[in-house]
Amino acid sequence: MDKQEPAEAGNDAASLAAAPGAGAPGGVPAVNAEELRHVMGHFASGIVIVGGIDELGPVGLTCQSFFSLSLDPPLVAIAPSHTSTSWPRIAAQGAFAVSILSAQQQELSRSFSVSGIDKFEGVAWRTAHTGSPIIEGALAWVDCRIEKVHEAGDHYLVTARVLHAGHLDGQPLLYYRGQYVA
Ligand SMILES: Cc1cc2nc3c(=O)[nH]c(=O)nc-3n(C[C@H](O)[C@H](O)[C@H](O)COP(=O)(O)O)c2cc1C
Repeated sequence: MDKQEPAEAGNDAASLAAAPGAGAPGGVPAVNAEELRHVMGHFASGIVIVGGIDELGPVGLTCQSFFSLSLDPPLVAIAPSHTSTSWPRIAAQGAFAVSILSAQQQELSRSFSVSGIDKFEGVAWRTAHTGSPIIEGALAWVDCRIEKVHEAGDHYLVTARVLHAGHLDGQPLLYYRGQYVA
């Protein structure tokens, strides 16, 4: 039988991704933040704007971390960062609407990711049942009441009950490896 040399683990992100069990046991992280971001970027997704409203007006942020969680009861989940300045305003009202962006709304995805500006300036939106803003032209939307906010590392994991939902026909805005997919 041929003697096989054990494969040497490289330091690049590709080999880390390909090395099952890489990293030490006992809670030592297997990958650093930069590597993890790079690897997780291979998970393609849509892009949404999570929007709420308070006495100062509509507020929102671009999010990739959004998913359908349960059909009965109808739940979705989002993961806003601890650093988001919009999220505390949304959370305080207990409701938000998720606008799933269409392929034509790449610019909105960019502008809603910038902190400290009036993101709704010049943006067409309408009011959902909860009062939350739905972005006009969004491919689909869900209007939600917040159920639970969990601490999850440097983000919150937020579950919310869907009260109303709707969609248009069209193409989604897609995001893959840190880029919009045309
Ligand atoms: C493509 C893309 C996806 C993003 N996904 C998230 C996300 O899932 N969660 C999050 O907290 N921030 C996410 N961000 C960053 C927020 O949009 C950004 O930090 C936020 O809008 C900052 O503004 P704020 O201070 O008004 O909250 C994403 C940004 C981009 C461009």
